[in-house]
Amino acid sequence: EQINKGKYEHYMQKEIHEQPESLTTTMRGRLIRGGSCKAKTVLLGGLKDHLKTIRRSRRIVFVGCGTSYNAALAARSIVEELSGIPVTMEIASDLVDRQGPIYREDTAVFVSQSGETADTLLALEYALENGALCVGITNTVGSAIARHTHCGVHINAGCEIGVASTKAYTSQIVVMAMLALAIGADTLSNQARREAIIDGLFYLPRKVKEVLKLDKEMKDLAKLLIAEQSLLVFGRGYNYATALEGALKVKEVALMHSEGILAGEMKHGPLALVDENLPIVVIATRDSCFSKQQSVIQQLHARKGRLIVMCAEGDKASVSVGGSSRVIEVPHVVDCLQPVINVVPLQLLAYHLTVLRGYNVDQPRNLAKSVTTQ
Ligand code: G6P
Repeated sequence: EQINKGKYEHYMQKEIHEQPESLTTTMRGRLIRGGSCKAKTVLLGGLKDHLKTIRRSRRIVFVGCGTSYNAALAARSIVEELSGIPVTMEIASDLVDRQGPIYREDTAVFVSQSGETADTLLALEYALENGALCVGITNTVGSAIARHTHCGVHINAGCEIGVASTKAYTSQIVVMAMLALAIGADTLSNQARREAIIDGLFYLPRKVKEVLKLDKEMKDLAKLLIAEQSLLVFGRGYNYATALEGALKVKEVALMHSEGILAGEMKHGPLALVDENLPIVVIATRDSCFSKQQSVIQQLHARKGRLIVMCAEGDKASVSVGGSSRVIEVPHVVDCLQPVINVVPLQLLAYHLTVLRGYNVDQPRNLAKSVTTQ
């Protein structure tokens, strides 16, 4: 299959814009939403012989690097909610550095777009030695991680060429949401919640298509931010990962210092940075953290913060403060899938910032698509 840029100027741009299709492919054949008497459910063929063991595990450990780690973080709480199993997060190199405890009763999930990242592979070897059940979530059939894990799920996002991962990120989140649904499939008390998420998955590609219409708005925002030295992104709950991932995109390709910050930690340091110059993105879409984020906005505003607020469509009035902040309205979806929507404007912002600043979008300096050395 010949991969070309088609009508796009860069692979990263193409990969951002093809997310409605890549997400559809990720879910193809895996969502079952039958007739009236047929339950809505998910089918992950690669896991079917291991689901019982996963359900019995004492702990689920997510392991990854870079964007793949962020995707796992975005899915963490829905996996905890639907499985009832504690989920811990490990950056692959850190797990190996610490030789952190991994037990036979653990399910260790290795998330990697390429399936070849050296740090993740080393962590996999370590978890295998310690007897954990090892699950791979990769985009590359036949990759080392796919081969060496006991079972797994391919994300089927299609070949990703831009060094900065975009479509693989959203597909990874969707696969891990499906993993949560599969693990929790037998729990009656969660049935309505599971069905709402399955409905949300069906509509997700359509909603991503809608959010991509913000392209021009994000280009305008990039023009405003072109000469900045730094950008902060505040998120919490499901969207703490979005803050980390948005900041990572800006850092990787636009070569601008950017930091994702857990809004709950605002008072414990980051607040000292706030002034009228430093641009700050605050993610305040609708979920159980919304009112807390409203209060974060108030507090940042009180310190004259230069705010760019991301909110759900129709919520502009509830997040605007004193007419000084800029607002990005995004489509609303079920809370645990909102990170898939919210990351898109930030991907677009990073892309446009890079082009406007004249840097190499697809091959950022010093970075590699797949880091196969330690
Ligand atoms: C490199 C890439 C990142 C990627 C990370 C993990 O740093 O530049 O885009 O997120 O590796 O890669 P993986 O293939 O394991 O997801």
